[in-house]
Amino acid sequence: MPALQTDQYDVSEVAELREERTRPADSCIMVIFGAAGDLTTRKLIPALYNLGKSDVLPKEFAIVGFALDELTQQQFRDKVRDDIEQFAPKPIDHTLCDWLLERLYYVRGDFRDDAKYDDLKNLLAELDERHHTPGNYLYYLAVASNFFAEIVKHLGRKQLTSEEPGRWRRVVIEKPFGSDLESAKALNREIQEVLSEKQIYRIDHYLGKETVQNILVFRFSNGIFEPIWNRRYIDHVEVTVAESLGVESRGGYYDNAGALRDMVPNHILQLVSLTAMEPPISFGADAVRDEQAKILHAIQPPTPEEVLTRAVRGQYDEGVIDGKHVPAYRAEPFVNPNSNTETFVALKLAIDNWRWADVPFYIRTGKRLPKRVTEITIQFRRAPFVLFRDTPVNKLGHNLLVMHIQPDEGISLRFGAKIPGPTVRVGPVNMDFKYVDYFGSEPSTGYERLLYDCMVGDATLFQRADMVEAGWSIVTPVLDVWRALPPRNFPNYRAGTWGPREADELMKRDGRHWREIE
Ligand code: BG6
Repeated sequence: MPALQTDQYDVSEVAELREERTRPADSCIMVIFGAAGDLTTRKLIPALYNLGKSDVLPKEFAIVGFALDELTQQQFRDKVRDDIEQFAPKPIDHTLCDWLLERLYYVRGDFRDDAKYDDLKNLLAELDERHHTPGNYLYYLAVASNFFAEIVKHLGRKQLTSEEPGRWRRVVIEKPFGSDLESAKALNREIQEVLSEKQIYRIDHYLGKETVQNILVFRFSNGIFEPIWNRRYIDHVEVTVAESLGVESRGGYYDNAGALRDMVPNHILQLVSLTAMEPPISFGADAVRDEQAKILHAIQPPTPEEVLTRAVRGQYDEGVIDGKHVPAYRAEPFVNPNSNTETFVALKLAIDNWRWADVPFYIRTGKRLPKRVTEITIQFRRAPFVLFRDTPVNKLGHNLLVMHIQPDEGISLRFGAKIPGPTVRVGPVNMDFKYVDYFGSEPSTGYERLLYDCMVGDATLFQRADMVEAGWSIVTPVLDVWRALPPRNFPNYRAGTWGPREADELMKRDGRHWREIE
């Protein structure tokens, strides 16, 4: 079925809306801890460059990199120039690149070394003078999680986090935010001794994705979906976050974390809460997050018995992806050769509220699956009455609404249509909306919007302490049972397949199956 033709619509109007100017962010200095790391190289620097390209970086702006790497300021600037050339969209705007490099500084040091924070403080004061920034500082902790609290405490001790009227100080904290409920609570306590909640920006890069933000727009700016968005019309919801990559060079981190910690309490529960939440009273940060938090609280943490029947774990064996042989998880670099860490997880979640009672949410995520795809499928109940005798009811498809989060971003709706011919036979067809048809494709790292929001003080897309803790409350019982009962059958799925057999059985037991993803 061809996609809807964009020329039937006023595309210029859409383009105009897009061009509408966003105000430049507040004048500030961004301090990146972990400035020589992968996240900075691949995401943060290209995102800042893209913000510059869209004219929304403030004129009064500077960036300070803080890292342990033995680099002079010039070497750091050269490195960032290379990063921009490699990871920013082409052709490179050299004027913008030079503009960024002119305001780029470097502090070399250990995050635990108190004296280095004096150096940082002196440099920031000097840069405020030089770049006319008003003392607004955005600290980005792109570092291993064991440094989060330590860095915040040092900043606090040097009064680098004290706000005054007209002068803000904010801290962006990457994932993983804790490794279970207790550690997340402890981390919240430690950082809240120094910072107020409104200074803390717990980042989840899934919320930087346009299609994730579009879940809210789709649901709440259209009158036609909300009336059927409930247990009366919806049979179940599936969330799939599949990756074809393995653990790459991150075996050291991943072997301690596993798929459940790595993906579920953060990215996947974000997708679930946006799909399931009630309409907020406004798009204010707390109004949206209050509703998301209610959903997270309504997801019942499983009992140990439920973990056995509603949670599936898997680990990949060697296999073939895209025609290439790939090694087993246990043979990956920095992974224990006897590792019991899961690289796949599937869960059946129940949201105990009026809207969703008895509507299961099945989620699955894994590495080394056949392809990279993230999607949310809403499966509607069947039509109640068998009118089409030649098409047995079990052959009549369900209506499906699929939100394609990535790649091939878009939304499709499947419904039944008459197959041309002398008898009435019904076949499934798709109505497809593709982002690229309407809006083209804009190079983006997914961090642009999030960085911009930090610089203008909009915390809507960031996690509050209560949300992070609610996420961990859901998965911690699973972690506890899995720790107590190590898996006996790992590795239990071949690379290049859709995970272990048990994941299919999880749905089969309920008379359902995962949507087949081509
Ligand atoms: C990260 C996880 O948070 O998200 C990675 O740590 C995962 O393991 C990544 O690969 C997936 O992000 P994306 O944007 O590629 O879907």
